[in-house]
Amino acid sequence: MRIEAFRNLQHEAVVWRHYLHENPELDYRMHNTARFVIEKLASFGIDRIETGIAEAGIVALIQGEDGNQPTIGLRADMDALPILEVPNKRWSSNIPGKMHACGHDGHIAMLLGAAKYLANTRNFKGSVALIFQPAEEVGLPSGGLRMVQEGIMDRFGIHQVFGMHNLPGIEVGKFGICDGPIMASQDDFDIVVKGRGGHAAAPHQAIDPVVIAAHIIVGLQTLVSRNTNPMEPLAISVTKLKAAEAYNVIPDQVEMGGTVRTLVPGLREFAERQILATAQGIARGFGADLDLKHRRAVPVTFNDTNGTNLAIKAASNLVGPASVDVKIKPRMGSEDFAYMLEARPGAFIFLGNGATAGLHHPAYDFNDEALPFGIGYWVNLVEIVLAA
Ligand code: NI
Repeated sequence: MRIEAFRNLQHEAVVWRHYLHENPELDYRMHNTARFVIEKLASFGIDRIETGIAEAGIVALIQGEDGNQPTIGLRADMDALPILEVPNKRWSSNIPGKMHACGHDGHIAMLLGAAKYLANTRNFKGSVALIFQPAEEVGLPSGGLRMVQEGIMDRFGIHQVFGMHNLPGIEVGKFGICDGPIMASQDDFDIVVKGRGGHAAAPHQAIDPVVIAAHIIVGLQTLVSRNTNPMEPLAISVTKLKAAEAYNVIPDQVEMGGTVRTLVPGLREFAERQILATAQGIARGFGADLDLKHRRAVPVTFNDTNGTNLAIKAASNLVGPASVDVKIKPRMGSEDFAYMLEARPGAFIFLGNGATAGLHHPAYDFNDEALPFGIGYWVNLVEIVLAA
């Protein structure tokens, strides 16, 4: 079905989106947002609504013509960010310091629009599980992981799962996707370099952990440039550094921290192993000791081939194949929908948000013109995957 079939849903979706934008909520504390979503879902006559999953998460089930057929999951994230919004619109945030700066307000409105359409038409076999997820933007454990851990895939019999994120810089009405990795994994590390402190004027009596930390920072950069295949993306960034507070003190220890991003699952293991080996080797070479904590955070968001092809077909039905970039370059950011794609095959797609400010920018806004495209994508996807 072409985009024209979904234009009449835009007006209502804009009203929902603006309400959500004015009332942003963070992490798991999304009770007003969840209440709003539940009210709307109930008003569409949806068969089953389960609430309180991962605190504020919701899964709603719409049954098609034959309930024994497969179920597909469609996921929208719901949380806002702790950002002070540039108050440049009628529907700007009512809550200073909180803002929908990643467009999750639009993601909710699009999944609600699709829910309304699908609950009315039910032109599919099997069932659709609408997954409204809290806490995408937080550290571990994030909402996607917790919803998987709380068993939604088994409980709702979900066979395949699909996600969507708006992307500034792509025209409204266009989509971008690729087979394989589409968003990077994220792992974080903390290092403590343990030297021996002393007076800055007598460095020979100390083991200076500041100089050792500097060597480690440079050493870690060679893991990317010298030890991995240049065709395989890996970013290692040291972002935190804490030494002494005074000009004349060599501290006992230096604390540093950073992050690892990659699109290649095997490079996560490589980085975990080699960051330790490199940092330890450098520290020992200078007579210091070292503690390292490596935390696996978000896995690679991995589109399987079948899911990717179904997503491409759905988007192409809606806007024509010329408006679907099927080989978009993967992003090095991470996305906790990756946990759902670890649990079930499927695909994650980008939806054009036009020439707006970037994601997480205080002047960003979800583009209301993109709403019918997102709604139409979901509906086409359901009617393709669960063809009646
Ligand atoms: Ni986001």
